[in-house]
Amino acid sequence: MRLGVNIDHIASIRQIRKGLEPDPLYAAFICEAAGADSIVVHLRQDRRHIKDRDLYLLKEALKTKLNLEMSLARQIVNIACRVKPEQATLVPERRKEVTTEGGLDVCANFRKIQQVANKLRSCRITVSLFIDPIKSQIEASSKLGIDMVELHTGSYAKAKTNSAKKARLAELQHAAEYASARGLRVFAGHDLDYYNVRPVAEIECIEELNIGYSIVCRAALVGLERAVRQMKDLIG
Ligand code: PXP
Repeated sequence: MRLGVNIDHIASIRQIRKGLEPDPLYAAFICEAAGADSIVVHLRQDRRHIKDRDLYLLKEALKTKLNLEMSLARQIVNIACRVKPEQATLVPERRKEVTTEGGLDVCANFRKIQQVANKLRSCRITVSLFIDPIKSQIEASSKLGIDMVELHTGSYAKAKTNSAKKARLAELQHAAEYASARGLRVFAGHDLDYYNVRPVAEIECIEELNIGYSIVCRAALVGLERAVRQMKDLIG
């Protein structure tokens, strides 16, 4: 299982004092050295953590893959087309949210997503859609002819009881199999941590997990390299 490490919250720490440290570029090098298979960042419209400068530097310097999480906003799409990350993951974005809430509604925003995906693909950027593990969203994604989807694991991670967790995990598994059978590559992520990640990592057709917050939290106590290695070991 590949691991994409989301380093937004390294930048969040920097922005507490609006200084230069810790630098997400330096963090990305440590993640790569510790076994990360890709580096994920979200350039938000309010630039609350990752800045344009980070994006350009990461694209120049990464040895693995830059996966840019982004909204459908025109200004952000134009930046993506200039930076040309290897992958763009389209996500919904609300200004007041603490983190991404729910997946993209591909059914309701089909035309807009199609326009953005086509523009990104014309810049040779592989496009992924962050969606809830729901059949209708998978079907709409597959109609767009995009390469991959990232299944939102938040409902599984936030389930309170064992039976609810089991049900949400089964949903993820069925969604992953359904998407894979329709020719989509399948990634997953959101709210995954050292305690809940293994059952998701065992779902066969999921190729890559994107994990941020829990790794950065652990890194604050044990160091980033160790935190990434521990996660990489857990997901196998
Ligand atoms: N995948 C996507 C599409 C996200 O938006 C995020 C959060 O930025 C993540 C994965 C990582 O989520 P978390 O920080 O909860 O691990």
